Parts: sequence; structure tokens; C-alpha cells
Amino acid sequence: MTVYLNGMYLDQSQAVVSVDDRGFLFGDGVYEVTRARNGVLFEGDRHLRRLRRGLEGLSIALPPGLELEALAAISERLLQENDLGTGDATVYLQITRGSAPRRHQFPPPGTPPTVYLTANRLVLPDDVRSRGAAAVTTADVRWGRCDLKTINLLPNVLAKQQAVAAGAFEALLVRDGIVTEGASSNLFAVVDGVIRTHPATNRILAGITREVLLELAAELALPVAQDPIRVEDLGRATEVMVTATTADVMPIVHVDGRPVRDGRPGPVARQLHGALTRRLDQATARVGVK
Ligand code: PDD
Repeated sequence: MTVYLNGMYLDQSQAVVSVDDRGFLFGDGVYEVTRARNGVLFEGDRHLRRLRRGLEGLSIALPPGLELEALAAISERLLQENDLGTGDATVYLQITRGSAPRRHQFPPPGTPPTVYLTANRLVLPDDVRSRGAAAVTTADVRWGRCDLKTINLLPNVLAKQQAVAAGAFEALLVRDGIVTEGASSNLFAVVDGVIRTHPATNRILAGITREVLLELAAELALPVAQDPIRVEDLGRATEVMVTATTADVMPIVHVDGRPVRDGRPGPVARQLHGALTRRLDQATARVGVK
């Protein structure tokens, strides 16, 4: 597998970062996971905008000579070099504050950040989607800037492990009685006939999938509100679903062992998933290429 590291395309076995890297020592960096189909990035510009915001939020500067826009070209080259020019894939991108002797404060200006990209085959959980997935709720113990897509994911890791250990697909994070989002996804619920999702505040990572789905729901004239979902709302929701680049729209049919409505995927999840699939197909169709 060919990866990109700090200006070079390398076999992954040759890609090495320092043990002084601040990603390793402090989780001091940001990342993106971008969907690709047929070698074309889906919503690449939105991912770059979110990345720029994250870099600014952490005060990490790109290395001289590397423009943000060039990351899209690097991503596309990795898709080609790794035989991912057809079908579904993801591009993983990580930028850390670089490598320097361990001190909490920022290293001297000019310390080059570490820039790493890799492309991988995406196997979508379509079998789980058709049955619907289970979720568990757990405390959201994350920090106050969940809007930044940082690599500091320990609370998410622990929550996801709790879900997997319980045989569930996702952990839903609860803070002050509000279900903010999933460990690696955003949450939607249909409550009183309205599709609700947490507003894009510092309490959640505003997913690109979430953003696209809000647009698609408006196009479909489905009632949508960016209002917090309370734990008790989950109990009376007619549908619950989580969304992410790696899962699209995943209906949640059991929460903490209790069925959502009849315990089967519902029509809104199906409709939104269908609309997202069409948007993906249109956005990634290569003219003249089969
Ligand atoms: N995670 N919220 C959190 C906490 C996430 O980690 C993710 C995605 C999302 C959904 O964002 P998007 O629609 O842009 O993928 C929401 C990625 C997939 C990951 O960490 O692998």
C-alpha cells in the first residue's frame, strides 16, 4: 500500500514518524476521513473547510509550499496508486503539530507539522443496515471543543469499545440529559414527526454526512429541526439513526436493549439513505468512464 508522508509517496512499511511526534505524545493534531467513489472524493471541499477550521482552532500551520487544496490531489493520487479508482474507499488524513522534545507548550515556530494520508477500501455495513443496528448509551465525558476533529479520541475509543463489548454498533453519548452524538457518528431521531439532530455547537463534531443529509431532507420537504435530543426523546422516537462517512445512514433499532418503535428500520432512514446514495452517485460519476 502506498501512503503519503511529509511530501513523499512511500510503501506503508517505509512510512515512519518520530517517537517525539506530538500526535504520539499528546494527541496534538487533527484528522479527516473523506469518502471516495470511483476515485472521486465526495464533498472534498467541505472536508477541506472543516480541516482548515480545525488547523486554525489548534494553531497548526501547514508546511511551507503545501496548500490545503493540494491535499485533494494527493488524496486522488493515493486512490489511483492503491487500485481504488473504482468502488468505495476512504481517504484518511492526519496532520499533527510535528515532532519536538516533549514540552506541553507549542514547539518553536517553523517546526514542520507531520502530514500523513492513506487510502483504504471501504466496506459498507449494508447487511447491518438492512436489519438495523443496536446502540448503547454512555456518558459523554469529552472536552468542550468536540467541534474540532482532533485525533485525541480516547473518550470515543472507550465508548465505542463499550458498545462493541455489548454487541452494539454504536455508543450514543449523553451529557446533561442530552444525547449529543455517537462515538464516531452523528445522531438523528424522528420525534413527533420531526427529524431532529443536535445543533452544530461545540458539543458535537458537525459531520459532513449530517450536513448533506440536512440539505437532502430540505429538498425532500421533510420536517427537520436542529434541536437537541433528550434521552427521554429516544424512548418515544419513531426512528433513530446515526450518520457518518463510513456508515452513511444507519438505522438504530435497539437502544440499551429496548426496541425503537417495532425494532425495524423505518421509512425516514430508508428515504434519507436513498437520497444520500443518489447524491453520492451523481457527485462521483466520471463522465465517459464506466
Ligand atoms: N468519524 N461525530 C464524530 C465524533 C465522528 O467521529 C464522526 C466521524 C462523525 C461524522 O462525521 P462525518 O459525517 O464527517 O464522517 C460525527 C470518522 C468517520 C472517524 O472517526 O472514523
